[in-house]
Amino acid sequence: MKKNPHTVTFTINGELKTFLTEPDEKLLALLRREGYQGAKYGCGQGTCGSCTVLMDGRAVYSCLLYAMQAEGREIRTIESIGTHDQPSEFQQELIAGGAVQCGYCIPGMIMSATALMENETTFDDETVREYMDGNLCRCTGYEKIWTALRRVLDRQEAAGKKK
Ligand code: FES
Ligand code: FES
Repeated sequence: MKKNPHTVTFTINGELKTFLTEPDEKLLALLRREGYQGAKYGCGQGTCGSCTVLMDGRAVYSCLLYAMQAEGREIRTIESIGTHDQPSEFQQELIAGGAVQCGYCIPGMIMSATALMENETTFDDETVREYMDGNLCRCTGYEKIWTALRRVLDRQEAAGKKK
């Protein structure tokens, strides 16, 4: 493929895989080249969040990481969240609330929300903002996305309190 190939091995959406890469290849570029195209290239500079994936459960900008930095890690992309026929709870709320316009930001939003839901048990507005403020949307004005997420989080909080 290229001039100075290396390999990198990591778990991607639950499967251990080895990929050819180069020392200067970004993780986002590798993922998209290998068919994980839900993560999007927006700014390429760590400001828009459209490239967000999870690394060991933490939301990261895959445009900033080198592919080699994923060695031994667990990477999850939007392809691991819901399906066309069985969307996740947040995906269902986004659809029901008409919260998606061009959709470019949505995979990254969903990955940040996934990190939030998996890492926290209470979802006060400040915590939600901490997780979500690295994801920009140029279309929606955020309100419908926020409402969709809030519906899911409120249900999860209520279910947690019942336990
Ligand atoms: S493309 Fe990675 S933060 Fe914008
Ligand atoms: S829906 Fe277009 S960027 Fe968010």
